[in-house]
Parts: sequence; structure tokens; C-alpha cells
Amino acid sequence: MTTIQDKIKQLIDLRVQAKLGGGEKRIDAQHQKGKQTARERIEMLLDDGSFEEYDMFVTHRCTNFDMDKTKFLGDGVVTGQGTIDGRLVFVFAQDFTVFGGALSETLALKICKVMDKALIAGAPVIGLNDSGGARIQEGVTSLAGYADIFERNILASGVIPQISAIFGPCAGGAVYSPALTDFIIMAENTSYMFVTGPKVVKTVTGEDITTEDLGGAGVHSSKSGVSHFRVETEEEGILIIRKLLSYLPSNNLEDAPIIKSTDPINRLEDKLNSIIPDNPNQPYNVIEIIESIVDYGEFLEIHRHFAKNIVVGFCRMDGQPVGVIANQPNFLAGVLDINASRKAARFVRFCDCFNIPILTLVDVPGFLPGSSQEYGGIIIHGAKLLFAYGEATVPKVTVTLRKSYGGAHDVMSCKQLRGDNNYAWPSAQIAVMGASGAIEVLRGKEIEKLPSDEEKAKFIADKVEEYNETFANPYQAAAFGYIDDVIEPRNTRFRVIRAFNSLRTKKVVNPPKKHSNIPL
Ligand code: HXC
Repeated sequence: MTTIQDKIKQLIDLRVQAKLGGGEKRIDAQHQKGKQTARERIEMLLDDGSFEEYDMFVTHRCTNFDMDKTKFLGDGVVTGQGTIDGRLVFVFAQDFTVFGGALSETLALKICKVMDKALIAGAPVIGLNDSGGARIQEGVTSLAGYADIFERNILASGVIPQISAIFGPCAGGAVYSPALTDFIIMAENTSYMFVTGPKVVKTVTGEDITTEDLGGAGVHSSKSGVSHFRVETEEEGILIIRKLLSYLPSNNLEDAPIIKSTDPINRLEDKLNSIIPDNPNQPYNVIEIIESIVDYGEFLEIHRHFAKNIVVGFCRMDGQPVGVIANQPNFLAGVLDINASRKAARFVRFCDCFNIPILTLVDVPGFLPGSSQEYGGIIIHGAKLLFAYGEATVPKVTVTLRKSYGGAHDVMSCKQLRGDNNYAWPSAQIAVMGASGAIEVLRGKEIEKLPSDEEKAKFIADKVEEYNETFANPYQAAAFGYIDDVIEPRNTRFRVIRAFNSLRTKKVVNPPKKHSNIPL
């Protein structure tokens, strides 16, 4: 007769077997590729001892190609719950040692279960991806499994934070689950994402391209913007997930977590009084300004390598998480183009979904002109950012540092897009366009008629001076109340924090609707 001791031993044995995934040989192969196993990744991610695993005894149900003779406990994905800094999260980690982490019907069911649980609990879901895609032997049930996951990604969007790390292959339609989540992290050299791999590309288009050049971490973090973070190691990727979550609420009904800050809110930063160059065409690094005014100088930049003309990321101000959007004069003079608009719009919408106040630092010469931008749809992409700001109901504080010209002035969280507190530095220039362009339009005919180049130059210089006296300052805008106050740069931290503190009870509700129709 089987005793209870035998049954407990059987349980322990099964657990040991499940924890080996596809077996020692495949674990070794995984390590040789410079990759961790699914369980090692989960262990790094979660607080010590907090992991509770689900569905360890699930096996696939496929009988095609003699598959019923090869089964592994857990079937290629490790799922469960745990905590990060004491806060509940749900996690799935694809196990490459079992059929290359390829997605079966049962593997999809396991992922769907943690996603459902995350939604019920109102806690973030983190996916650690490392998979050969649809499990070929299973055919259409695998495709259905992906679609089941996609639907959950969509329904959870804006309700719970969803974070995807790509720590191995991610190809075919499988890329769309991470793409539907809020943040993607990719590890250099070991991960890639593409809709079709190099071989298919070669067959269809004749293009010769390597895996890395087609869909590696470098490409997606700098060219396509698919990936928000590029990391050298999986450990670094895991740390970023933990850090990212520290700024986020667990769900859209909670406020972002405030932690006590000992950084004085009235800290004066004298260097800010001289950071803006006298020459309006001279760049500076806006990240220096961000780091000067946020708690402890800590700023988690997102999309660092993509559309560098705009900077986005998280910080804390007086302990409160804040999303920062800042034009970057150091790159393309901080101009708004297609990629910058897409990058910032998505970030503004993320902050708005999850009740994270928005700080906007403006130094923008306008939208990038030209046919390539027009043909690429800058009108639609720029409208995304405009839409995102105008729709956002979280507290919005704007500081105009220098240029704020034309349509870009309106887009960058101006007063009329329901900016709550709009400040400007004395160096601000708020106008329809820069002086040279304006004089060309207004006085072009007069300039043409002048007989000599010297006279033309003198005339233009006089008119530019006159224009700048009128517009190259914040006081016109302040006279209309579009700017609430002109502030001393070194006092920016205090003014912004005081504004956000007074906005903690802000409640604005948009008109009821099924959903908006943001220009996609
Ligand atoms: C079943 C798979 C598999 C798959 C890998 N394996 N991919 N099993 N279905 N899709 C198995 C391998 O047979 C092997 O099993 C083990 O996983 C490890 O694979 P290797 O090839 O030895 O590893 P590696 O050399 O690192 O190459 C990894 C790989 C390659 C690049 C991912 O395996 C590969 O190209 N796989 C196919 C990728 C693919 O085309 N997937 C379909 C994409 S389309 P053993 O037993 O030998 O260890 C798609 C549609 C989704 O996913 C649509 C959603 C809407």
C-alpha cells in the first residue's frame, strides 16, 4: 500500500523533475549561450523566497509527430506570483530548455492564467521571453494560444503595468505580445525580435542581413523604437524591471507609490541660472537640468537611444513619481519630428493611464520641416503628442526653458491643453516662429528691394532685434496668463514640487465615451 510518506516523496521527486525543465544537458546549453534559465531569471527578479509557482505539473496534449512520447513537467514556461520590493507581481518566464520555449496550447493557457490572476489582483505582469515561437508540432492551437495572450494584453492595457524582457529569440507573430505591453527590455547579443527572420527576408526581398542587424537590441532601441531599454546583461535587465516598477502603481486605480524623500524641496541650484547659453543657437544638455531638479538627481531615462531630440523618463519629486518629457537641444536642436512625437506621445499616455504626474521642460524650435517628414506623416504623428497631452488628466506642470515656437509650443503641454501650472524661465522665447524666419516672411519684399547687401544685412539685423524685443521673452505669454509665472531657474525644483503638491487632489474627468480616436 502506498503510504502518505511515499506520496510526499513522489511530490518532492516531481518538483525536482519539473525544476530541471528540459534537463541538465539543455540547461548547460542555455548557459553556454550566455543565457540564464527561466527559473534563474525569476529568482533574480523576485524578492527572496517570495515566488509561488503555478501549473508546475502541466504537460502538453499534443499527439502529432509522436509528441505524446516526449513530455516535460511545466511544458516550457514557468509561471507564478511573487513580490518585488514587497509588492505583488505576476510573472511568466519561457523555458527555452523545453522545446525551445515554443508556444503550445497548454503553455499559452499557463500564461493566460497568470495574466488573468494579475488582472483580478490588480498587479503588474512581467513576461520574460525566450522562445522559438509557435510550437510547430501543434499547428493552429498554438496560433490560437498566441491570440488568447494578445487579447489579455489588450484588455490589461492601461489597467495593470505590463513589462516584457526579451532574453532570447522572439519571432513571427510572437513579437506582438511584447509589442502590446508597456515596456520592452532587450539584452544585447542574445535577443532579437522580428516578424520574419533573415532567411525569409532573403527569399522575399533579396536583402542580405544578419539577425542582429535585422532585429537585435541595438536596432530596436535606436532605429525602430520597439525596445525601451537595451541592456548588456540579463542581470541589468532585471534590475531595470525592478527600478521601473518602483515608479509605478500596481494598477490604474492606485496612485503611484510615494516614498519619503530627504532631498530638501527648496534646494537652490545656482548653476541653472547660467545653464542657458546667451546664443540661442548654442545647445546644452537638458538632462543636466532634469538631474538638478529631481530628488537625489535620480532619473530613469526611457528610450535613451531612440529619438534623442526628446528625453522621457521617470524621477521622483518630493518622493512622488513624476514622468518627465523634455526637448533635448543637444540633439537636432530639440526639434519635434516623427519619432520624437511617437516616443513622447506613448510616454504621456502611459503616465496618464497610471496616474503619474507629468513635468514638461520646453526648448523646442518647432516641427522638423521637409518632404521626408511630411511624407512620413508628421502631421499624424505630431497630432499623437498633441492628442496625448490634451487628453491627459493627470497633473501637468510645464516649464519653458528657452524656445517655444509655433505648433510645437501648443503641443508641448501649453496652458490651453489643460496645462495646470505653466512656468517660464526669463530666457524663454514664446512666438509663432524664430526671428529670422519671421522677418523673411513679413519683410521679404522690402529686403529684396534694398540696393546693397550691407543695407539688407543692417535692415534684417534691426528687424530681428525689434522682433526679439517683442517676442524673445516670456512676458507676452505671461501678459495673457498663458504663463502663470516667470521663475528664477535656480528655484525650479521648489516651484515644480509646490505645484505638484497642490495638484495631488486634482480630479478632472473627460466626457464619457467608448474610447477616443487618437490619430494612430
Ligand atoms: C518546436 C522548437 C521550435 C518551434 C525551436 N524548437 N523552435 N520546437 N517548435 N517553433 C526546438 C528545437 O527543435 C530544439 O529541440 C530546441 O527547441 C532548441 O532549438 P535549437 O534550434 O537547437 O536552438 P538554437 O540553435 O538556439 O535556435 C533557436 C531558434 C531556432 C533560432 C529559435 O530553433 C528556430 O529557428 N526555431 C524556429 C523558429 C520559428 O520559425 N518559429 C516559428 C515562428 S512563426 P531539441 O529537442 O533538439 O532540443 C510564429 C508564429 C506565431 O511563431 C504567430 C502568432 C500570431
